[in-house]
Amino acid sequence: MGIRTNNFGFRIYNFGFTCGTSCFINPKSQIRNPEYYKLCSPYIIYKLASKNQIRVSFEGSDVNGSLWVGEGGKIHVIDQRVLPFREEEFILNTLEDACFSIREMVVRGAPLIGVTAAFGMYLASGNNSNNIMETLEEAAAYLNSSRPTAVNLFTATRRMLETAAYCHDPAEIENTLFLEASRIREEEIVSCRNIGEHGLPLIEAIWERKKPSPVQILTHCNAGWLATVKYGTATAPIYLAHQKGIPIHIWVDETRPRNQGARLTAYELGLAGIPHSVIPDNTGGHLMQHGLVDLVIVGSDRTTRNGDVANKIGTYLKALAAFDNQVPFYVALPSSSIDFNMEDGLRNIPVEERSPEEVVHTEGWDGLGITRIRVLPENSLARNYGFDVTPARLVTGLITEKGICPATEGGISGLFEDLKI
Ligand code: MRU
Repeated sequence: MGIRTNNFGFRIYNFGFTCGTSCFINPKSQIRNPEYYKLCSPYIIYKLASKNQIRVSFEGSDVNGSLWVGEGGKIHVIDQRVLPFREEEFILNTLEDACFSIREMVVRGAPLIGVTAAFGMYLASGNNSNNIMETLEEAAAYLNSSRPTAVNLFTATRRMLETAAYCHDPAEIENTLFLEASRIREEEIVSCRNIGEHGLPLIEAIWERKKPSPVQILTHCNAGWLATVKYGTATAPIYLAHQKGIPIHIWVDETRPRNQGARLTAYELGLAGIPHSVIPDNTGGHLMQHGLVDLVIVGSDRTTRNGDVANKIGTYLKALAAFDNQVPFYVALPSSSIDFNMEDGLRNIPVEERSPEEVVHTEGWDGLGITRIRVLPENSLARNYGFDVTPARLVTGLITEKGICPATEGGISGLFEDLKI
């Protein structure tokens, strides 16, 4: 397992990876393409004078990738446990590293969990074993046990198993799984980009109605590029609107207990120069009652075929408040987050319960380092449900890579005819 600390000296991010998947050649293989690194991994190295002088190059709404293939075919991710206080890379060398990074939330967010799991399957395929398919089945079961809610994880491991089953020998499996994981990564990027294009008109319409006042958008947790690979889901239309010069302001729910909103969404929006305010989780209802929210956009970990949406705990309460105040409530998600086999989300979506320690303590920067402090009395018990399910009836619409649809079985199957059961 490799961790590289940059100590704010250097930040190395991959802005490339924009070419088609056909050029992703497993660098460990015999068929190594000498142009591989030139094509797929153009690194941009930023020298940072201090934490306050972060410079990020944006091409429009483009942002850094959260997972990329580096030199020697190593799989790099950004360690999200230490953002925004430290910017570190974490290198996945083994299946165990991939599992660890999902379970411990080095990586998180449904699409990125899926992509990481796919590369975990590739890493498992490098293990010399007599029965490679059996090894991969075990790897899939191991990865599937890391977190229960995001369906992307299960879809990715199944897809990797199915892909391996078509191969003839271990070397072919390893090469093919590398290509397939790269393809899944690329598909997530394209989906997010398209979600942005489809979601943008919603913001434009509000702007036309209320200009010159900025469009006020509320989001929960982190459904940005850190949670996907690039662009994000909920943030993709926001980046495009900002790029088009539409004045926007984002209300960012802090998202206790792990504070993905305060730590990650605020970090992303800050890098992009997008005006935002972090708010305590219970503020949204008050803002909506006073006309201060024009639109809610959240992400999803698993959306059932009839439109029930599992997302970070607290999303349901935002949907209720939005419904009561006639504020449009949209869920932005790629089809990889739709569970086409499941109908009743409330009954059937497995909701992760994480360690109560995350509620008992909180984490922050004390000026010298990241510190954990206790916020509960010694003897109080805590519970830590990671997700809740928003019933489809509270969802105004789903913003997908194929367009916007109602959160209904008809709406979803109308867009994803080919993926129907
Ligand atoms: O527990 P997390 O941080 O993995 O939860 C993430 C979310 O709830 C996101 O909103 C969801 O995965 C969508 S990411 C595009």
